[in-house]
Formats: sequence, structure tokens, C-alpha cells
Amino acid sequence: DWTMAEFRATKIAEIRKQVGSGRVICGLSGGVDSAVAAVLIHEAIGDQLTCVFVDHGLMRMGEADQVVGLFREHYGIPLVHVNAETLFLNGLKGVTDPEAKRKFIGKTFIEVFEAEANKIGGADFLAQGTLYPDVIESVSFTGGPSVTIKSHHNVGGLPERMNMKLVEPLRELFKDEVRALGRELGLPDIFVGRHPFPGPGLAIRIPGEVTKERCDILRKADAVYLDEIRRAGLYDAIWQAFAVLLPVRTVGVMGDGRTYDSVCALRAVTSTDGMTADIYPFDAAFLSRVATRIVNEVQGINRVTYDYTSKPPGTIEWE
Ligand code: XMP
Repeated sequence: DWTMAEFRATKIAEIRKQVGSGRVICGLSGGVDSAVAAVLIHEAIGDQLTCVFVDHGLMRMGEADQVVGLFREHYGIPLVHVNAETLFLNGLKGVTDPEAKRKFIGKTFIEVFEAEANKIGGADFLAQGTLYPDVIESVSFTGGPSVTIKSHHNVGGLPERMNMKLVEPLRELFKDEVRALGRELGLPDIFVGRHPFPGPGLAIRIPGEVTKERCDILRKADAVYLDEIRRAGLYDAIWQAFAVLLPVRTVGVMGDGRTYDSVCALRAVTSTDGMTADIYPFDAAFLSRVATRIVNEVQGINRVTYDYTSKPPGTIEWE
């Protein structure tokens, strides 16, 4: 007879017992998982928790402001917001290999986080919103299965370096359960219902080199796509939908001129845990509306395609 209310109460007791009077630091990624973990832990131990949001500049449009607003204004949870966009973009110059991007972002994320943690006097515990699928898809420093599908940067690394113990209250949960817990904790629906977003952010949705200019182009295309999905009332029926900016230019025609610009791919999948996925079968009219808007509204894109690959054999992200 297992309910989210019981889970909440049990976890709060466990967190209090584990942490005692220690100090906890929690990295917010902008996603649902770390937000739910932070709110749960805050409920358990109040101001013994400090949140740090390392803003790598690879977020979607308006996302960083939403996170800061939610935590500072809505919950009054102490939050350090670090704008590290330049650091990340400089380090990504010339990097095209997907795993190299992930490793650089993960490593830099940890360095920035560590520096901030030291500034506020350190902590005894590190809180993470690690979910069950993260545990089984990554090599875990606690000795999980040794299969690396993609290195998820929120698992491993920092705690050993900083001599911190881990607090991971969501480790047994799947995504739908985390959402139920988020609702139970009173997180706003638009936040709880948000599509998952990967730690490395837009960097893994820009095959090839990541630049500020390409991030800006992708942010615009992605915002148009999601706007149309919301207008059509489809947001909640989809597990994840996003645009990918391809490192390919093709010829087009606009007015009386020839264009030679980037291709944008649209991805939308249904899933229950992200481990397998099916493509979302949009109707043709919807897709052509999105394609027309993106080409008209986003300078730098002149062609739009739809990704029809399920997982497996594809992955949800392109990198
Ligand atoms: P894939 O692309 O492996 O993605 O089918 C499965 C789910 O995981 C998310 N994802 C990540 N999340 N760090 C994260 O925190 C990562 O490096 C990462 N890579 C993929 C992806 O968005 C999808 O929900």
C-alpha cells in the first residue's frame, strides 16, 4: 500500500536521519528531478540546504529565469545562481565529439559547482536528483552496473573530490513517480509536467561545434516548436519534444533570393521512462505549420525535417 504521501514522509525521516545537523548542497539543473529533490530535502532540513544553479548558457529559452524565480520567489530556498555561459562556450570551441562535449560539460560543471560550494563554506552532503534509469544507464561510483550508454554527468565525480556524502532521495523512482512526488510537494504543474532536459543541455542538440550563435538559433526554433505543441494541446501527451540544429547547410529559396542555411530536425517521442521510446505521430498539417513558422521566423534555418526513429535503435537525443 504504497503512496506518494507515504514516500514523502518516509524520505523526509530518512533524510533527517542521514543528514543530522550537517550541511547539504544541491545542484539544480533546471529539470524536474533536481527541483523535486531540492524541495523534498528543504522540507526535511530547511536552511541546512543551499541550492546552486550552474547556468551553463545551454538552457532553453527563458528557462534559467524560471528556475531562479521558482526557487527564490516561490519557495524562498537560498539559491546561488552562477552565470558561466562564457566559460562553457569557450571550452566547447572546436569540440565536436558527443562524448567529449559531455565530458567537458560534466567536468566544468563540477569545477564551477565546487568553487561555489567552497565560497559558501562547503557542505557535508551533496544532494542529487538521480533517478533509477540514471543509476542503471551509467557507471556509478557506488559500483553500479558497468555499462555506459552515455555518461550522464549527474552521476559520480564530485562527492569523492569534495569529501561529501550523497543524498539521493529519488534513486528508486522513475520519471512518472518523480512527477507524482513533485505534485505531492506542491510544485507548480507547469514545472512538474515539463519535458525532461539533459544535463549537457543544448550542446548535445547541436551536432558539430557549439557556438553562442548556434545556441541562439536553436533556442528560437525550439521555442516555436514547443509553442505550436502547446497550442495544439499536445504537450502532455509527449514525453519529450525538441529541435536539433544540424551541421548541414542546404539550398532554399525565399522571396527572389537563394538561401544557404542550416537544417533543423524536430524530435518528439512518447515514453514512460526514457529507456524505450516511440515517435509521436503528428499529423502532416501540424508538421508543415511548424516547418513554415520556423523557416519564416528563425534566421539561419531554411529547412525542417522530422525524425521518425524509435528508441531503440535510435536514442532520444541525437548525441
Ligand atoms: P537517450 O538520448 O539516451 O536519452 O535516449 C534518454 C533520456 O535521458 C536524457 N539524457 C540525459 N540526461 N544527462 C542527463 O541528465 C545526460 O547526459 C543525458 N543524455 C540524455 C534524455 O534527454 C532522455 O530524456
